[in-house]
Amino acid sequence: PPPPPHTHTLTIPERSHTPNTNLDAIPGPTNWPLVGSLIELLRKGGLTRQHEALVDYHKKFGKIFRMKLGSFESVHIGAPCLLEALYRKEGNYPQRLEIKPWKAYRDMRNEAYGFLILEGKDWQRVRSAFQHKLMKPTEVVKLDGKINEVLADFVGRIGKIRVNGKIEDLYFELNKWSFETICLVLYDKRFGLLQEKVNEEAMNFITAVKTMMSTFGMMMVTPVELHKSLNTKTWQDHTAAWDRIFSTAKVYIDKKLTRNAVAAPDDLIGDILQNSCLSKKELYAAITELQIGGVETTANSMLWVIFNLSRNPVAQRKLLEEIRKVVPPDQDPCGEHIKNMPYLKACLKESMRLSPSVPFTSRTLDKDTVLGDYAIPKGTVLMINSHALGSNEEYFGDGKQFKPERWLRENSTINPFAFVPFGIGKRMCIGRRLAELQLQLAMCWLVRDFEIVATDNEPLDVIHSGLLVPNRELPVAFIRR
Ligand code: HEM
Repeated sequence: PPPPPHTHTLTIPERSHTPNTNLDAIPGPTNWPLVGSLIELLRKGGLTRQHEALVDYHKKFGKIFRMKLGSFESVHIGAPCLLEALYRKEGNYPQRLEIKPWKAYRDMRNEAYGFLILEGKDWQRVRSAFQHKLMKPTEVVKLDGKINEVLADFVGRIGKIRVNGKIEDLYFELNKWSFETICLVLYDKRFGLLQEKVNEEAMNFITAVKTMMSTFGMMMVTPVELHKSLNTKTWQDHTAAWDRIFSTAKVYIDKKLTRNAVAAPDDLIGDILQNSCLSKKELYAAITELQIGGVETTANSMLWVIFNLSRNPVAQRKLLEEIRKVVPPDQDPCGEHIKNMPYLKACLKESMRLSPSVPFTSRTLDKDTVLGDYAIPKGTVLMINSHALGSNEEYFGDGKQFKPERWLRENSTINPFAFVPFGIGKRMCIGRRLAELQLQLAMCWLVRDFEIVATDNEPLDVIHSGLLVPNRELPVAFIRR
C-alpha cells in the first residue's frame, strides 16, 4: 500500500542518479603504464611543487580527481561538500596513510605505536586517554604559564641576536622555540635550547628528530623491508635517530612518573600519565609522537605568521592596537587575554589559510563510501587537499590577499569545511588547541615588542618538503618598538 501522505514529507528525496562505482570514471591527469602521472608531475616542477600541481588539477578536473604516481593510486578531494560527506560517513577508527618506516623501527625494537601510526581500537584507546584534556580549551589554557616561560626567553633572544634587525636562520630559531615549549609541556624539563650555548644533550635530541624526519620520506617511496635487509645508510640513520629520541624521552617520562608517585601531579600531562590505563610502553610512544607532531608544524606556522604580518603593515598595526587594548603593559599576555582578541585569532586563521604548513592529509577508507557522484571502494587512499581548498577563489574571494577581516564579518559565509589546517573528524590534530594557544601568545609577545618589517617585496616561492616552506631566508627584520 502507498505510504500515508504525511510520511511522504519526511522522506529524503532519492538521488536523481546512482553513484558511479567505477574508479576509472573519476577524471585525472595522464595515467601511463607503470609511471602513472609521475612524469607529468615532474614536468610541473616535481614533488617540491606538488601543492601547486594539486591546485592546477582541481582547477582542471574539479572537486575530485584520481592520480597514480608509480604504483601508488589516490583520490584527491578539494571541495567542502565532499569533506563534509566524508566527515558524516566517518567510522569509529579513521585511518591515515601508513608510515611503514616508523612501524618497522618499533617492530624491530619491540616498542609500541603512538597516535600517528596506531589503527583501530588501539588507536581509539590511546587517543581517548589524551583527548579529553588535550582538546579541551579550559584545560589547555592552563599551560599558558609554561608557554610564556619559554616565550620570555625567545623574545629576549630575538632581541639579542638581531643584526640590523635580521635573524640568521629564523626557521631554526623558531624550531628551537617550539621544541623547548613542547618539551616543557610534556616532560616538565627545560632543555636550554634558547641559551647562547646549547648543551650537547639538547642538540643531539633536536638533531635526532631532524634526522629521523629527513630519512623516512625515502622509505615511504621505496620498500622499507629492502632498506632494512640491505642495512642501507638511510635505514641505519633512521634507526639510530629513533634510538636517541626514545632513550632521551624515556628518561624524562620516567622522571615525571617518579615525581607523580611522590606527589599528586599538578599539570595536564602529569594528570594523563597518572590516570590513563595505558602501559608504560604505550605512554613512551604516545608522548614521543606528540613531540614529533608538535615541533616543526608549530614553528612553520609561526614563520608564516611573521611573513604575512611583515607584508601587511596595516593588519599588523590593527593587531598591535588590539594587543595594547587588552593586555596591560605591565602584564604578560595570557590565555584569558586571548579570549578577548578576535582580530588576533582572525590573523592566525588567515595566515594558516593563505600559507598553510601541512598541505594535505589522508584517509584510507575502511568501507565503501559515496562521495559526490562516486562510490569509492574500501581501501582507497583519499587525499584531503587543505591547501587547494584555502587557495580556491570559489570559497575565499580575493584569496591571494591577507584579509583577517574575512573571518570577522557578521554574516560570514565561510564554509567550515573549506578551512581544515588541522584535518577533520575524529582523527584531527590532537595538538590543535595547544598549537593555537602557543601561536596566539607568541604573536602577542612578538608584535608587542617588535615591529616586523619586510626587507624586500619580491615574491616568495613556496616549496613542499614535508611541510610548505619558503625557498629562501624570510625577508623580514624585527625593529624594537
Ligand atoms: C595530526 C596539523 C600541531 C600532534 C595532525 C594532522 C594535521 C596536523 C593536518 C592530521 C589530521 C588529520 O589527518 O585529520 C598540525 C598543525 C600544527 C600542529 C598545522 C601547528 C600549527 C601539533 C602539536 C601537536 C600535534 C602542537 C602535539 C602536541 C599531532 C598528532 C597527530 C596530529 C599526535 C595525529 C593524531 C591522530 O592520528 O590521532 N596535525 N598540527 N600537532 N598532530 Fe598536529
